[in-house]
Amino acid sequence: MKDLPPIQISPMRKEDLPGIMEIERASHLDPWGEAFFLEEMERPQSRVLVARNDAKPRQVMGYICFWLVADEIQIFNVAVHPACRRRGLGRRLLLEALKTACRAQARTALLEVRKSNQAAQRLYIRLGFRPTGVRPDYYQGVREPAVLMELEMDRPWRTRWLAEERW
Ligand SMILES: CC(C)(COP(=O)(O)OP(=O)(O)OC[C@H]1O[C@@H](n2cnc3c(N)ncnc32)[C@H](O)[C@@H]1OP(=O)(O)O)[C@@H](O)C(=O)NCCC(=O)NCCS
Repeated sequence: MKDLPPIQISPMRKEDLPGIMEIERASHLDPWGEAFFLEEMERPQSRVLVARNDAKPRQVMGYICFWLVADEIQIFNVAVHPACRRRGLGRRLLLEALKTACRAQARTALLEVRKSNQAAQRLYIRLGFRPTGVRPDYYQGVREPAVLMELEMDRPWRTRWLAEERW
């Protein structure tokens, strides 16, 4: 499998929208529209981080959207271009979001994931998330339950996952 090119991860810009929409439509049964992303750019508590090819900054390879509220980070959307999956980018995007949250004094990360989405659940579990409950019929269109997951970003976790990074 080809290595990923050098990547930069930074806040979303409006010119990222076409690349984001391509990934969004290829990634979710119920994709967000452009207006969702534009609204998130305006919300004070919201962050959208985008991974771009460092050599071709217009080439969006993935993104993550989350809110920072009190001492929590709530992760709403993470997706990687289908051609770039299984090469560590999903993990990098999550760690970048969690690092941003730790800098903002957040200590708990929360998210919801489709019960059938084993790829995402494995990614979250490997980073230390644990399931805390199930919401039945959470995803209306497909009548699928959501698994609630939580991560305590305590000192041992930060040492394990973030210590080697300069932050
Ligand atoms: C979930 C998603 C973001 C993962 O991105 P990725 O860049 O492929 O993930 P990574 O390469 O960082 O994978 C990290 C770990 O997650 C797990 N994982 C990721 N994809 C997997 C798959 N298809 N099957 C099984 N495990 C998987 C593995 O444990 C993997 O580690 P490994 O490769 O060392 O075994 C990507 O599959 C995606 O965009 N899916 C569609 C959108 C989506 O479902 N988002 C989550 C909504 S809650």
